[in-house]
Amino acid sequence: MGTIIAMAGKGGTGKTTIAALIIRSIKETKIGSVLAIDADPNSNLGEVLGLKAGRNIGMILDDISANPDKVPSGMAKDRFIEYQVQSAIQEEDGFDILSMGKPEGPGCYCYVNNVLRGVMIKLIKDYNYIVIDNEAGLEHLSRRTTRFADKLVVVSDASSVGLKSAQRINELIEQLKFKVREKLLLVNRFNKNVDKIKLKETGLEYLGSLPYDPLMEELSFEGKSVFNLSKDAPIMKALNLLGDQIWKRN
Ligand SMILES: Nc1ncnc2c1ncn2[C@@H]1O[C@H](COP(=O)(O)OP(=O)(O)OP(=O)(O)O)[C@@H](O)[C@H]1O
Ligand SMILES: [Mg+2]
Repeated sequence: MGTIIAMAGKGGTGKTTIAALIIRSIKETKIGSVLAIDADPNSNLGEVLGLKAGRNIGMILDDISANPDKVPSGMAKDRFIEYQVQSAIQEEDGFDILSMGKPEGPGCYCYVNNVLRGVMIKLIKDYNYIVIDNEAGLEHLSRRTTRFADKLVVVSDASSVGLKSAQRINELIEQLKFKVREKLLLVNRFNKNVDKIKLKETGLEYLGSLPYDPLMEELSFEGKSVFNLSKDAPIMKALNLLGDQIWKRN
């Protein structure tokens, strides 16, 4: 069974960047196969990984609802959707990727999540790691994809407000009685020691911090992928030092 690593945290904290760096590290250390899932309806994980957008689950659902006759006779619609979604997985150099997108047409957004969950349950046997980049906020936490994370990586800035928001994520997970095995806190863009009391209050296991890295910001402005970042870039080095705890398999 694969290890599911899911990102969480408030807007702009660095979830997508860190998900992409985790994927790069897993690929380069050759510790196992990896499926990247972009579960943010405003997808951009693919772009940060240097890829062109392919078909996503939202597009597939729109297509089938506009052309119901595409479902072969004798095949249940759900089976057909599942088959289509599996064939939308893009095979890249060293990792695969699937994007959730959002349907344009009428219909419940949670349906996309249900489809993703169904496919994920099957795919978890085919990969050593599944890395899920989520949208900001708390809403996705009640969805079933985050519910089964082995490791939830909560990304925060070092401010009191930021850490309070990380604490709320933890409280919600406890309330919802999720089966998340490890809830890890990663403080991003910070070079100093964070106040230990504030860290403890979050209720999350503090993993460490990643520095502000001007090289990362520059790449992002230029629209270049994380694969252009040198191995010696401060954020890359720091992540690799903490990495073991993120991708270690229990
Ligand atoms: N440690 C860092 N040093 C410098 N720039 C960073 C660092 N971490 C993230 N960034 C930059 O900050 C911006 C926001 O990061 P990112 O898109 O990963 O955040 P996010 O949490 O995924 O945002 P959203 O909530 O909108 O999905 C990006 O331009 C990214 O390159
Ligand atoms: Mg993001």
